[in-house]
Amino acid sequence: MNTPFDFNTPNNTKFPQISLKFGQIDVSLTEIIIPIPQEKGYEGFLDEIFYNYGKNQHASRDFGAEFKESVTIYAENTKIHLLGLGKNAKSKQYIHAFRWFFHTKKQKLGENLSIYAQDLDINFLDSIANGILLGGYNINLYKTDKSPETPHFFQKENTNIDIFLGENDRNIAEKRLFEGIQTAFAQMEAMNLVNQPANIKTPQYLANWAINSGKEHGYKVDVLDKKALKEQGLHALLAIGKGSQHDPCLILMHYVPKNATNPKKVAFVGKGITFDMGGISIKDNQNMHFMKSDMGGAGGMMGAIELVARLGLNIEVIGVMCVAENNIGAGATLPSDVFSSYSGKTIEMIDTDAEGRVVLADGVCYANRNFKPDILIDMATLTGNTILALGYNAGALFCNDEDLARKLLESGQNTGEKLWQMPLWDDYKDDISSDVADVRNFSGKPINGGIAAAKFIEVFTEKHPNWAHIDMAGMVLQAGDFSKDRSATAFGMRLLVDFLKNL
Ligand code: BES
Ligand code: ZN
Ligand code: ZN
Repeated sequence: MNTPFDFNTPNNTKFPQISLKFGQIDVSLTEIIIPIPQEKGYEGFLDEIFYNYGKNQHASRDFGAEFKESVTIYAENTKIHLLGLGKNAKSKQYIHAFRWFFHTKKQKLGENLSIYAQDLDINFLDSIANGILLGGYNINLYKTDKSPETPHFFQKENTNIDIFLGENDRNIAEKRLFEGIQTAFAQMEAMNLVNQPANIKTPQYLANWAINSGKEHGYKVDVLDKKALKEQGLHALLAIGKGSQHDPCLILMHYVPKNATNPKKVAFVGKGITFDMGGISIKDNQNMHFMKSDMGGAGGMMGAIELVARLGLNIEVIGVMCVAENNIGAGATLPSDVFSSYSGKTIEMIDTDAEGRVVLADGVCYANRNFKPDILIDMATLTGNTILALGYNAGALFCNDEDLARKLLESGQNTGEKLWQMPLWDDYKDDISSDVADVRNFSGKPINGGIAAAKFIEVFTEKHPNWAHIDMAGMVLQAGDFSKDRSATAFGMRLLVDFLKNL
């Protein structure tokens, strides 16, 4: 691969060994992190801590267990970090508080840490482990100076974290820890893909990633190259890739469990536009660099499938990733062009920047016809319009089955990767009716763009009774504590894996 980047140890980051300890914590340990939810009685708990570690801790008297509030108290031989989790702390707050703590304090943390988690809900153990490891995620993929004078926590060898749990069910605890760790490593893979610049992240690069991931984690991967796409008639995907020097491809991923306890077959179809400059209907140059993340739907789904394999879930999952670069070139598709598609239906191109729905048209139809999945889900950074509607706090869900919608919405709440349902009514069908072809890709109107895009994709699902479409344009990147600019979130991975677990 033509990059200095090593997939397994991103940026030479070293991750701590996390282990579980059962029973009372030893108060003479050298460095202890005490996560504290802002629940009834937490003040009493704090008093107990101060009693154990000396009462002279003025600073800590101000501590109110707010979300991401942290205070360090120094007892005789012990350093204690109080970490607030806020009110109503759930998985998302645990992950973010721990990620923030480890990311911002990494320069100061010692090699051996203990976490006092005896009084916490054991179900958040995976979130704690997940947050710790993500705290080490480093976006500086291509910085050349990698030898710091004073290595921080994630650059030191042999760092250890012991999590103290009191008397708990050890099997469940070990399982949760395993899940949290696997999730973090799979998420970092997906984040690396999204954060990767467009000159490196060609369609072939994504295909190579899938091939390697499949080999490593035990699932099957096939790639349809341009020749195969032509032979099999994926004209819509081909039409979007025509303006680029990098050929489009369709990445097929297939995870078959050793013993499937769930007989359902689920297909994931992802939008994998490695860069979206709009094509001939060119975007303006404001923030265009963010369009390297236009493969975030596919990225999240590829990460989710790797995670399914890492966890060995007992359900069959198929991935169909529609990968192309939407660029300008002499051969690029023009507004007004009409072409066919895998389904046989013809498409009139009104705006070449509405490319995602066009590649997904072939993806959903291909998944449906070739794999006959019980459930068909596509995920895409599809429209700016859903960002206008929901901002950066939730993805838009479009779904033709109530039970499926409820399950996805619930997984959104469970994981904090939230979804909000939008309508799929036929009242909006007019938006995609074309004078010259079966459908057109854009209504020409600056309204209800997210719904119109969903109605377009719906045509190519060929009435699949259990179809969901997730438009997560606002969720793929997030500004925050972990990078100066917006950076990848791996949105959708925890949501989809939680969904599969509860199916
Ligand atoms: N990739 C964009 C959508 C997008 C916008 C993702 C902002 C992330 C952040 C998509 O291909 C696009 O360009 N959509 C257009 C469609 C329009 C031309 C009909 C949009 O939403 O403006
Ligand atoms: Zn576009
Ligand atoms: Zn796009």
